Amino acid sequence: MSSIKIIGGNKIKGEVLISGAKNSSMPIIIASILTNEQSILSNVPYVSDVTTLISLLTGAGSHITVIGEGGISKSLKIQTKNLNFDGEISLEASKIRASILLVGPALARNGHVKLLKPGGCNIGERKIDIHISGMKALGAEIIENNNYLELTTNGKKLKGAVIEMPSVSVGATENLLMAASLAEGETILKNVAIEPEIMDLIDFLNKMGAKITQEGERIFKIIGVDSLSGVSHEIIPDRIEGLTYGMLACATGGEVVLKNISRKYLGGGFEEIEKCGIAFEDLPSDYKFGSVRCYLKTGKINPISIETGAFPGFATDLQPQLSVLMLLAGGTSKITENIFENRFQHITYLEKMGANIAFEDSKTIVIHNSSELNGSVVEGTDLRACAALIMVGLIAKGETILRNAESVDRGYYHFVKNIANCGGKISRV
Ligand code: EPU
Repeated sequence: MSSIKIIGGNKIKGEVLISGAKNSSMPIIIASILTNEQSILSNVPYVSDVTTLISLLTGAGSHITVIGEGGISKSLKIQTKNLNFDGEISLEASKIRASILLVGPALARNGHVKLLKPGGCNIGERKIDIHISGMKALGAEIIENNNYLELTTNGKKLKGAVIEMPSVSVGATENLLMAASLAEGETILKNVAIEPEIMDLIDFLNKMGAKITQEGERIFKIIGVDSLSGVSHEIIPDRIEGLTYGMLACATGGEVVLKNISRKYLGGGFEEIEKCGIAFEDLPSDYKFGSVRCYLKTGKINPISIETGAFPGFATDLQPQLSVLMLLAGGTSKITENIFENRFQHITYLEKMGANIAFEDSKTIVIHNSSELNGSVVEGTDLRACAALIMVGLIAKGETILRNAESVDRGYYHFVKNIANCGGKISRV
């Protein structure tokens, strides 16, 4: 168990180099098993979710070389020719949630997949019914098997189909895009997720030779091909990481320049955060993806009423951080969490530190201005809750100890170091 100590009161001011998007990298690394040829991925964030996935694929016989790139993001050379993989996903691999994304590629590659049923996690039940019904529509059959999820194509190729998903799911859209790319014939996916990270996956798959087009706001058409090739691809910048630093710096009264990202890549959040009073201004930059300056436009934070939703809606991955920013707003705010049932766990700790927050119902919180915040001992329940609790520690009076802090490393590379470099009193203990 790792802890982080924060002494509040310092302004966060400086520059942060933003890495490639974690939520693009996970499916794209997995998509590379759709070919035996080598792929090269650059701008891959070296966060623990990614390193866990690399070690799992390596452990199963893939050859992955990590090439350093200024320390923050890495390039990966991925060769899965020797992946010792008949679709059976090891017990250890089954434990990471992203293993569900191996279902589509495994069925396409081997016609069979077996993994331990992925359970829920701290932020919600995280059902997989849409993944499964989609695979069945493509011709896979479920083998009933108590603790395991096992599917087979009975030796046949997956077959294109028209699939309307009952609700929008990022992971199910990704899984079906990967499976349908190597299926026979045409697949139409309706009610798809259209997060920038999904568009990045589609870009990667199309470079590999897949034939995926967007036919309407939430419709993708995939014409199956016989095989895919290895390609080079650069991961898009991480919008959640960028917006987290933007909110965090402004909450402390400081400002930050995000390097290697621009407004264009900050969708699904920045428009609403701008309404709260934070400006995101593109700067001239030598970085490929640009640079953005984030600062408080008028020196004050405005209250907001917001609901999380699928892209282009407000990202659930920013909700805990926004709830901290709203403690400083000049008025009452309301946040409704529509994506995950259990993503308000940080609220207990904010209240412990003096925040005035009320639950309207299980999905909605009402946040009143709470500028008198005091440091405390708090627990990190998941990745984004950890980021939010570090943020509140930076604005509270005195010392905050965040226990169970390791989740922050799942999605933020060198979070503590970056904040310390911008003037934050923060260290690992
Ligand atoms: N859902 C179902 N059935 C399914 C699949 C999903 O009911 O078959 C439900 C889920 O239980 C959840 C909702 O649909 O309530 C949305 O789930 P989704 O499938 O869209 O999420 P995911 O693919 O599991 C990804 C990100 C999450 C991010 C969500 C929503 C990755 C690796 N993870 O999860 O990222 O919150 O989309 O945008 O891409 C994070 O980075 O902190 C994180 C949790």
